[in-house]
Amino acid sequence: MNYELLYSEHLEKALNGALNKIEINALIEKPHYADQGDLAFPCFQLAKSLRKSPVNIAQEIAPLIQHELFAKVEANGPYVNCFLNKKIVSKQIIETVLNKGKDYGNQVSDEEKTIVIDCSSPNIAKPFSMGHIRSTMIGNAIGNIAQKNGYNAIKINHLGDWGTQFGKLIVAYKRWGVEDKVKLNPIKELLTLYIKFHEEVEKEPQLEEEARSWFKKLEEKNEEAQELWEWFREESLKEFKMVYDLLGVSFDSFNGEAFYNDKMDRIITLLEEKKLLVESEGAEVVDLSEIELPPCLIRKSDGATLYATRDLAAALYRKETYDFDKAVYVVGGEQALHFTQVFTVLNKMGYEWSKNMEHVPFGLILQNGKKMSTRKGKIVLLEKVIEEAITLANQNITDKNPNLKNKDEVAKMVGVGAIIFQDLKNDRMNNFEFSLEQMLKFEGETGPYVQYSIVRTNSILEKANVTDFQNQEGLHDEYSWEIIKNIQAFPDKVKRSFEQNEPSVIAKYTIDLAQAFNKYYGNTHILTEDDQLVSRLALIKSVSIVLVEGLRLLGIRAPKEM
Ligand code: ARG
Repeated sequence: MNYELLYSEHLEKALNGALNKIEINALIEKPHYADQGDLAFPCFQLAKSLRKSPVNIAQEIAPLIQHELFAKVEANGPYVNCFLNKKIVSKQIIETVLNKGKDYGNQVSDEEKTIVIDCSSPNIAKPFSMGHIRSTMIGNAIGNIAQKNGYNAIKINHLGDWGTQFGKLIVAYKRWGVEDKVKLNPIKELLTLYIKFHEEVEKEPQLEEEARSWFKKLEEKNEEAQELWEWFREESLKEFKMVYDLLGVSFDSFNGEAFYNDKMDRIITLLEEKKLLVESEGAEVVDLSEIELPPCLIRKSDGATLYATRDLAAALYRKETYDFDKAVYVVGGEQALHFTQVFTVLNKMGYEWSKNMEHVPFGLILQNGKKMSTRKGKIVLLEKVIEEAITLANQNITDKNPNLKNKDEVAKMVGVGAIIFQDLKNDRMNNFEFSLEQMLKFEGETGPYVQYSIVRTNSILEKANVTDFQNQEGLHDEYSWEIIKNIQAFPDKVKRSFEQNEPSVIAKYTIDLAQAFNKYYGNTHILTEDDQLVSRLALIKSVSIVLVEGLRLLGIRAPKEM
C-alpha cells in the first residue's frame, strides 16, 4: 500500500481537481516532527489559482478527508497534516515484509534490462590501491542494487593489463628481478621493481628508452616479452583474487585492456570512415573543440593506440555482447575528462546508446588528510588492511563475547563488513579519512553497529522462540512507529540509490533503521507476555529482514551471533 498515493487521491477529490494527484504527490512532505503528522500537504501553490489564502484552503479541505487508514487529518497553518492510523498501517507493513522476506523492496519491471558495471579494474603488477577498493565496493553494491531494481547486472573488471608500464617492468625485472622472489610475493616484488625503475631512471635516463622499446616488442608479440607479461598478469591476478574472495566480490568478466588489442583496428577504421580522425602534432585524434574539450587521442605517431581507443573498443564490444540499457564506469574523478571524451566520441560516431553511459566518480580515501597513493611506497596494501581489520574485529568480539563459536568466521564478516561500510556510508563524492579504529566500533555509524543490531534481533527472536507471526495486530506506540516509517521507506531508498548510483543511500538507511530499532529496544519490554507480544516480535523480525537485506545490497554479510 502506498500511503502517500492514497493521501494524494483523497486530496485530489477534496480539491475538486484544482491539482491532479501526481502534482499533489510531488508536493507532499514527510514532517520531521511527530506532532506534524506523517504526511503534510502544503497549500501555498494553490493560493493563486483558488484565490484564497493557504491557511483558508487548509482549513477547508482538512475536514473533507476521511479514510480508515488516516487516524486524523488536520489543518496546521498552511498545511494539511495527515496522521496515519499506526495500528492498521504497521500491521499492513509488517505483513508485507514478512510475506515478501528478502524480496521486500524489489522493483519489478516488465522488460528485461541490463546494466554493465565497469569497476575495480586495478593495474596489474601494482598493489590494489584504496581507490580500487572504492571502485570495487561501490561497483559491487551498484550491481546488487541494480538487481534489486530488476536489472540484470554484469560486472566487468577492466584490468589495467596493457601499457608502457609493462615495458618498465620487463626492464626492471631483467635487470634486478629474482624469479623466486616474485613467485613468493608477486605484487610486492613487482612493485619494488617498479619503484626501483623510477628511482634508477633519475640516474640513468636511457632506461626510459629501453622500457619503450620493450613495450614495443610486447606489442609486436615478441616471445620473451609476451611470456613475462603473461606471467606478471597471472601472478598479479592470483593475488587480486585473494582480495576479491576476502571481500566476497566476483566479476562476470576480467577482460582488461589487453583484451582489446585485436579490436582496435576496427575502431580506427570506423573513425576514418566517419571522417572523425584528424592529424594533430603527429598523432591521430578526434577533434572535440566544438564542445571545448581537448582532442581525444586515438593513435600516437609510433602507431601505438591509447587508453581511450581501448575504451572505445570496449564500449562497442560491450554493447554488442550484452546489449546494455545502462553502462556505468566506477572510476576515480581524475578520469572525468577521459570519460567525457570517450562518450562524446561515441556520440559523434552516431551511437545513440552512448547517452546511456555514465561515469560514476568517487572521492578519495585520506590518511592524515592526504591522499593514499601507491606510486612511491606510501602505500597501504589492501590485504594488510583487511587482515588488520579482521584481527581487530576478533579482539573486539573476544572482549564482548568470549565464548562465541566460529569466532574466526564472524571476525571476518565483521572486519570486512566494517571496511565496506565505512567506504559506502559516505556520499560517493566525499573524501573520507581512513580509520580502522573508527570503522570497527560497535557504536556510531559503522558496519559492526548494524550487524550488532541484527544479532540483537536474532537473540530476541531466539529467546521468544516464536516463529508464527500470523496473529500480529500491528502496534501504535511512537517507538515502533519510527521503525515502521523507516521500513516503509525501504523500497523508495532502493529505487533512489539506483537512480543516483549511490549505495550510501542504503548504508545511511540501515543506520537509521538500526537506530530506530535500538531506541525501541531500549524503551520497550519486548518479551513481556501480553497480547502485543507477537506483534512486537513480528516487528523485530521485519527489522531483521530489512537490515540483513540492506547489508546484502552493500555486499556485507550479517553474522547470526557476534
Ligand atoms: N585501470 C585504470 C586505473 O587504475 C582504471 C580503468 C577504468 N576503466 C576503464 N574502462 N577505463 O586507473
